[in-house]
Amino acid sequence: MNLVSPNFSDVMEPNVEIRKFPDSDVYVRIPGISELQGEDVSLFHRLYPNQDTEILSALFLLDTLKRVGARTTLVSPYLPYSRQDKTFREGEALSAQALCGLLSHAGAHKLVTVDCHFLKKEGEAEYGGLKIDNRSANRLLVEHARKKLEARELELISPDQGANYLVSDFGGKSMKKVRGEYQEGEEAYRTVEKVESEFDVRDKHVLILDDMISTGGTMIEAVKNVKKGGARTVLCAATHGFFLKNSLEKLKGLTDGVFTANSILNPAAEVDILPLLR
Ligand code: R5P
Repeated sequence: MNLVSPNFSDVMEPNVEIRKFPDSDVYVRIPGISELQGEDVSLFHRLYPNQDTEILSALFLLDTLKRVGARTTLVSPYLPYSRQDKTFREGEALSAQALCGLLSHAGAHKLVTVDCHFLKKEGEAEYGGLKIDNRSANRLLVEHARKKLEARELELISPDQGANYLVSDFGGKSMKKVRGEYQEGEEAYRTVEKVESEFDVRDKHVLILDDMISTGGTMIEAVKNVKKGGARTVLCAATHGFFLKNSLEKLKGLTDGVFTANSILNPAAEVDILPLLR
């Protein structure tokens, strides 16, 4: 049985209610839940944007299903907090692990997700007590790039070592990224100081592929690097596109094309990941 949250209405008809009480507390309801007693259920629910509210909605839905004995697989193509899987300074939260623990405790039998940042490979894993089935959008994104370039030979590059698994199957190479220290101020943000490469891209058609484009800092530096190296065409793509800090406009101005999957809805979401989630 599929349960579909309203924030998945671009691909499936929603059958779960999520609203707000007047004071902004979250209200969730699963009509016909008595029929789900002891059943296997797939709950399609995006956890971004508005991640904190969407996480809470997911926890309430999972708990509601647990109470009738359903075995629920949470299907959320992007897992927020997945970049907080390491600590750098004393006292920092291990948010990725804490979140996985919460989802598992609330009743997620398994999480099906796409290009989960801390896993860095496809397949089944267990993290923070949660079983995760991590699928990759890399093949769909590469196929899309090939169509855009009308099958001209494509050189695949990831902007850092962590995203190497996205390009390695295609003979791709990875750059090295150097991040700066945390900036002062309310925003917890580490700038990208540089992205380095040692390979030749002169006159090549390049696709730079990452798991996500957030502020665009990484991708912008990677694009500048391959352009300096004399690439003939530069496309950039990612599974998850946030495009914060006006980065979509900046990347459009610097490249021959920018696109992502629709795990997060955004104006450059050209690749449908639904086939990966079924
Ligand atoms: C980090 O290692 C990820 O793979 C991405 O490269 C990074 O999170 C993208 O963030 P931003 O767009 O802010 O540089």
